[in-house]
Amino acid sequence: MSPKEIVSSYKEFEDLLIKATNTANEGITISSMDQIDRPLVFVNEGFERLTGYSKDDVIGKNCRFLQGEETDQTTVDILRRAIKKGEQATVELLNYKKDGTAFWNRLSITPLKDKNGVTTHYVGVQSDITELRETQKNLKSANKELALFQDKINFELEEARRVQNFILPSILPSTNKLSFASVFEPMDQIGGDFYDILEIEKGIFGVLIADVTGHGIQAALLTFMTSFAFKNIALQTSSTAKVVTETNEKLYNKMPRGSFITMFYAVYDSNTQLLKYTQAGHPEGYVIRANTREVIPLTSLSPLVGAFSKETVSYSESIVKLETGDKVLLYTDAILEVWDSEDVMMKREEFTTFLIKNSKLPIDELLKDIKLFCLKFSGQSSFNDDFTMVGFEVLS
Ligand SMILES: Cc1cc2nc3c(=O)[nH]c(=O)nc-3n(C[C@H](O)[C@H](O)[C@H](O)COP(=O)(O)O)c2cc1C
Repeated sequence: MSPKEIVSSYKEFEDLLIKATNTANEGITISSMDQIDRPLVFVNEGFERLTGYSKDDVIGKNCRFLQGEETDQTTVDILRRAIKKGEQATVELLNYKKDGTAFWNRLSITPLKDKNGVTTHYVGVQSDITELRETQKNLKSANKELALFQDKINFELEEARRVQNFILPSILPSTNKLSFASVFEPMDQIGGDFYDILEIEKGIFGVLIADVTGHGIQAALLTFMTSFAFKNIALQTSSTAKVVTETNEKLYNKMPRGSFITMFYAVYDSNTQLLKYTQAGHPEGYVIRANTREVIPLTSLSPLVGAFSKETVSYSESIVKLETGDKVLLYTDAILEVWDSEDVMMKREEFTTFLIKNSKLPIDELLKDIKLFCLKFSGQSSFNDDFTMVGFEVLS
């Protein structure tokens, strides 16, 4: 290649560079560091478009002319210090266009050094980030509003949870023939588990455990509805099938589509030691017989509640004779739906073996130990779902 050709291709390259520089949307500027007041020696067309100033307006001037009344001086200080040390800096600062319009400038300045390390020039790149700042500001205030809204929802959920606790018995009944115990561990969200214990007549107790579908406010409202419907009926009769049948009638058509309740309702007559029960779509209950070290499942396999019309469902009732020392355990599905660290679900036999092994414990201790057993099995410190049990022990 001849020197002439090199020059001509170098010129071509230079033209290309200038064209590229002018096409950029950003402002590109060069200031000379060895002239008085470090004036601009180059600005691209992007700078002209951005600021409204022409090359002729600005060449030979220090770029501080873009600053104005509301330009933050601590940010200008950052630039000043960087230039003094010959370092790079990036800042966001308020600047003013030729027509006086303010804009947010993301400015980056980078030193160009000669072979001795002396800064001869600085390259500046200016971007208009006014819209971005506006969007960030709006986003910030939207996030703030969202956080306030979330606080409000949390507060209301907390209230709903508090009120929901009112439907649980505050004191468990106790007689010389019977001892009751319960464990209720609601998860963070409002869940749909609840239980109730009623004295229907002297020595005759109704024990209910129920699980309403879903979580949140809807579950809270459904637990109220179910609890009130149930209580009104349960105080009138000792037939568990009748109570569940009538509760279903009361709730059917009043529940949101797809919602239902599973329940296990038992009535124990401490005068006769007979236990009647109806299992409506709910996990079976257990009688834990300490004397013979047996666990007897309580099943009556009836459909769930609230989802079917009275013409299409019927609820049956079973009966079992209890003995002194027997314990009755009712619970919701979280007790059997525990997984270990390898995702293996607890087998029913593992659970019943545990019950047999601990069948001599008083009912309150047994329930506490079941909870610990399930937690140990899952290797966690709390449950993923409501964890609810209610039980009683025949003392005599
Ligand atoms: C290459 C270069 C570009 C600059 N561009 C801007 C700019 O767009 N807006 C601005 O407010 N300051 C800009 N400055 C900063 C000012 O020119 C000046 O350095 C700053 O105000 C601090 O120095 P002073 O105390 O002399 O004002 C730039 C500086 C350099 C070196």
